[in-house]
Amino acid sequence: MPDIGFLNGRFMPLEETLVPVEDRGFQFGDGVYEVIRTYHGRPFQLDAHLARLERSAKGIELPVPVQTREWQGYVVEGIRRGGYAESKVYIQLTRGVAPRDHLFPAAARPTAVMTIREMQPLNPALRSAGVAAVTVEDLRWGRCDIKSVNLLPNVMARQRAKESGAFEAIFVRGGEVTEGTVSNVMLVRGGVLMTEPAGARILSGVTRAIVLALARKEGVSVQERAVGLDELRGADEVLLTGTTVEILPVVRLDGAPVGTGKPGALTARLSAWFQDSLG
Ligand code: PDD
Repeated sequence: MPDIGFLNGRFMPLEETLVPVEDRGFQFGDGVYEVIRTYHGRPFQLDAHLARLERSAKGIELPVPVQTREWQGYVVEGIRRGGYAESKVYIQLTRGVAPRDHLFPAAARPTAVMTIREMQPLNPALRSAGVAAVTVEDLRWGRCDIKSVNLLPNVMARQRAKESGAFEAIFVRGGEVTEGTVSNVMLVRGGVLMTEPAGARILSGVTRAIVLALARKEGVSVQERAVGLDELRGADEVLLTGTTVEILPVVRLDGAPVGTGKPGALTARLSAWFQDSLG
């Protein structure tokens, strides 16, 4: 079965899902997106992702072309049509097709696209051994809470990570750790789980919120506060959270071991609680 695409209310084979050259997403990165995965074939935290999509759209003054209620139906239908054991759903909204001009077009209709691909699980060896990360300066704009398709700094930083033999790049702004290029970053020091607070410097991750809630429920002390790069370097454990990475231990940072250099105990417990919560 071919991969499934969706364009402005119609499902079609992915390779036929084409957007004109003058789409503002293509020319200006003038759009927002979401990535949703399934567990047991069902979209995970769909309402939270759709609520964030709406917030992102509002953040760039983009009138939503497809209402949240309609998206719920489309996402479920797309997953059904794809027929995969587990799916990865990508949704993107842009300000539509118009002759190139920075000003918002008066007449353009926003473009709504969705793709449904098979969710390829992360290599289990990476999860059990942990991954390497490198730090990079956070050169992104001041509204990282908006899930914008402007991902050039993320793309450059993730490529830098790969070329350094690392899995993820961790952004540092003014000496403080913000997040990864595709994930949120947490660390553990003296049994306390710490992470940058939700705000304009990070994408408030759906996985992040779940992990923090699980930690609090299980009696782990949690601090949502700015974390210095020195604290990250001296952490007992560092972990990444996100839709695609789930909970992933970081065992090397800029070439040096994190803590013991092995995945940490609290990270393992968080992963177990997270897996349990999936049913
Ligand atoms: N990225 N921070 C950034 C910059 C991200 O791009 C993502 C997710 C996250 C984690 O958010 P969540 O837990 O809601 O997935 C944090 C998606 C998966 C991507 O761009 O592919």
